Amino acid sequence: MIKKEFMEIISNKEIALDTFELVLKNKYVSQAAGPGQFLHISLPGHTLRRPISIASVDPDACTVTTIFKVIGSGTKALSFCKEGEMIDVLGPGGNGFSLENEAGSRILLVGGGIGVPPLYYLGKQLAAQGHKIVSVLGFQNKESVFYEERFKEFGEVHIATDNGSYGTKGFVTDVIGNIGEIDRYYTVGPIPMLRAVTEKLAGTPGYISLEERMGCGIGACYACVIPLKGEEHGYRKICSEGPVFEANEVAL
Ligand SMILES: Cc1cc2nc3c(=O)[nH]c(=O)nc-3n(C[C@H](O)[C@H](O)[C@H](O)COP(=O)(O)OP(=O)(O)OC[C@H]3O[C@@H](n4cnc5c(N)ncnc54)[C@H](O)[C@@H]3O)c2cc1C
Ligand code: FES
Repeated sequence: MIKKEFMEIISNKEIALDTFELVLKNKYVSQAAGPGQFLHISLPGHTLRRPISIASVDPDACTVTTIFKVIGSGTKALSFCKEGEMIDVLGPGGNGFSLENEAGSRILLVGGGIGVPPLYYLGKQLAAQGHKIVSVLGFQNKESVFYEERFKEFGEVHIATDNGSYGTKGFVTDVIGNIGEIDRYYTVGPIPMLRAVTEKLAGTPGYISLEERMGCGIGACYACVIPLKGEEHGYRKICSEGPVFEANEVAL
């Protein structure tokens, strides 16, 4: 259940270009959070909270790790937050990923940029259940790459960069055609990437997670709606009914 909590900053360090790993301590959130859920973070001088995915959890240490990229004033302010400070958070938010798969499945994780963090927590959990994990991670350039070694802890990893400065030159879709048979995929990233991935993997069951803009984060303002796909009329709220959806559920 989503709750308003204060979380203590344990560390906040730059791990790639403009990309910070923020470790927060709070007993409730660390026990309640599942992969694919997010924290809705209040920042001084900003009316709207900023949603940031949960990248991993250590329930014994009561910590939650997030990874964020500085793209505007809110994430800039978050990058200045220091160890020992308390931040006001609504969390854990959203529905999170389903972990139900056939035993011994071969599972593909496809992440682009700030879509990579939630897949780390997911991959760890799926690997612990005995599934084989293949990760395809896309970044703008070599300086933006993070967590390659962490993903290697639980499976095969392929990196793509837009400019070819590291890994395969091109997009994640240039790599996923060559990774062989898979039973299910999970993908997080910008909508054009999700559209390309779901088209390329049409016919394979999969889940997408949307990281677009949000308002209230608790289902009250309708700022985050996305239309349903196909014949069905209506929409889903990304914040409370998502951010995770089945691949063919919403219109990208
Ligand atoms: C469910 C969810 C999970 C997310 N998880 C993460 C995460 O783990 N790590 C992370 O770095 N970010 C994540 N994001 C995106 C993050 O919330 C935004 O980058 C952040 O809110 C931007 O705030 P800002 O004040 O820095 O930028 P603003 O000043 O609000 O915006 C700066 C510029 O970036 C554009 N912009 C803002 N938000 C987004 C967005 N979501 N997508 C594309 N363009 C945007 C704006 O239109 C503007 O041009 C997530 C978003 C959602 C909805
Ligand atoms: S952000 Fe307000 S309803 Fe989703």
